[in-house]
Amino acid sequence: MDSAEVLPPGEGPRHIAIIMDGNGRWAARRGLLPSAGHKAGVERIRDLVSACGDRGVEALTLFAFSSENWQRPPKEVELLMSLFHSYLRKEAARMCEEGIRLRVVGRRDRFSARLQRAIAEAEGITRECSRGNLVIAADYGGRWDIANAARALAEEVAAGVRAPDSITEGVLTDYLQLADLPPVDLLIRSSGEQRISNFILWQAAYSEFYFTDALWPDFDERELDAAITAYRRRDRRYGGRSSDGLAAQA
Ligand code: IPE
Ligand code: IPE
Ligand code: MG
Repeated sequence: MDSAEVLPPGEGPRHIAIIMDGNGRWAARRGLLPSAGHKAGVERIRDLVSACGDRGVEALTLFAFSSENWQRPPKEVELLMSLFHSYLRKEAARMCEEGIRLRVVGRRDRFSARLQRAIAEAEGITRECSRGNLVIAADYGGRWDIANAARALAEEVAAGVRAPDSITEGVLTDYLQLADLPPVDLLIRSSGEQRISNFILWQAAYSEFYFTDALWPDFDERELDAAITAYRRRDRRYGGRSSDGLAAQA
């Protein structure tokens, strides 16, 4: 599909983040186990990455496994870890061919050594790629991210290399995940749930939110275009007045 035909004219989004939710319900509706939904969900990612590239999106951040998802039944966690591992092994070379830099954000120390190695390898293979960015948030939590940044800054203060009053919003932002990417313009959640579930808390301060009832394994290019279309019709005021509206009447 030619995206230029369906999307309204406009800029961006440069960075899209997605809470990929609804795999379990997708499977349940078919009388299947959650694992079938997770497998179908992973299959969506490949097309979505290229669709984002075609639409000029510079960065795509996907919430794949939250710091709370360890509470799932052990068999499900095991399946998710093994899908993550095979995704990295299969896709890194392809990503590199497409010029996409892949990286993983979140805690790593709770993953197996084998998975940690696969993450490092996938990141290594795509390190020099600069056409686009795919970020996978795994064992990620927005609160962890902020606490992690606070700890790093506290260590610098304790070591005497930073003064407490140098810690500003901008400095803290630089110590968070995603700091080197454009701000998250559009945050999408599938499956009809309307909550952030401890995803990017700080970084979403001025993101546009978009919720769709589609379950993640059904999230296709049409869904992406619907989200981008909605985004381009939003008026991002950042607390000020819109450029073409009330400002003129002030
Ligand atoms: C999202 O799908 C995937 C992960 C959280 C890993 P779910 O498994 O949460 O799907 P639902 O919410 O049960 O439908
Ligand atoms: C959020 O979905 C995490 C991911 C999609 C990876 P959950 O299904 O875990 O969130 P809750 O439990 O509905 O808030
Ligand atoms: Mg869910």
